[in-house]
Amino acid sequence: MEAVGDVARRHGLKVIEDACQAHGAKFKDRKTGLWGDCAAFSLNQNKLMCGGEGGIFVTDDEQIAAAARTLWSFGETRTPVESRDYHVYALGWMYRNNDLAAAFARAQLTKLDQYIANQRRNVTELFAGLQDIPGLILPAEPEGHFHNWYNFTCRMDMDVLGWYDEPIRLRDAMVKALNAEGVPALVWQRFILPEMTVFQAQNAYGHGCPWSCPYTEAVSYDPADFPVAQKHLETHFAFISPLRAPHGPEVPKAVAGGVRKVFDNIGELDVDKILEAS
Ligand SMILES: Cc1ncc(COP(=O)(O)O)c(C=O)c1O
Repeated sequence: MEAVGDVARRHGLKVIEDACQAHGAKFKDRKTGLWGDCAAFSLNQNKLMCGGEGGIFVTDDEQIAAAARTLWSFGETRTPVESRDYHVYALGWMYRNNDLAAAFARAQLTKLDQYIANQRRNVTELFAGLQDIPGLILPAEPEGHFHNWYNFTCRMDMDVLGWYDEPIRLRDAMVKALNAEGVPALVWQRFILPEMTVFQAQNAYGHGCPWSCPYTEAVSYDPADFPVAQKHLETHFAFISPLRAPHGPEVPKAVAGGVRKVFDNIGELDVDKILEAS
């Protein structure tokens, strides 16, 4: 974010921070949401702090706040609880949350610190149980970073595991074996962004827009240009639910035991048979 901020300052740009997964996370003791000119947090069902749906928008810039309010409700300038003039001043959408979900989210906000503490205690347990498993690469929390551990993403080192076929085949078989052991490992993403149809077709709104719009420059979306993302995609698996409150340390401890068992017996996996059965 420091580098992004530098570029933005040099070019007179505003930074919109996508902090959707990062409630309470910090870098150099400064929380996410405070690095850009404004930021958004998601409250969907999958997030560390869940409000059912919707999100939280933060900014300390009055002008940006006013622009956001306009976008939020059909380009109008008054909120529905004020007396509306039903006049559209700018392009806007219907991004309002519903009041019940928002009230629930406000109550959840008072518990966020507690949720993060629970998450971090569970991750400590998971790290302890997953240490030194050959072929398993664990995530890291570098110096100066404070993770909320929204998810815990591991990778498989195919060289260490002696697997020279397509990595995705062993990974998918492993995830199935883990699930069979009751370990809720999951695959997060199956396509890197440039591979997705909308980018390949370069046609989001019809007639090639926005790629065909004036002021845009040609962009190449060749998946082969992104080998690191592709490798990550094919070798990762993640844990979410075992870390979440109200689960205490006994859950990550059991998860780590299941992971160790499957990795210890990786030589016994009949990959073809497991994948055929799916
Ligand atoms: C990084 C990131 N940005 C944006 C979003 C979108 O959030 P929402 O589903 O609340 O619109 C998500 C949620 O999945 C996300 O993880």
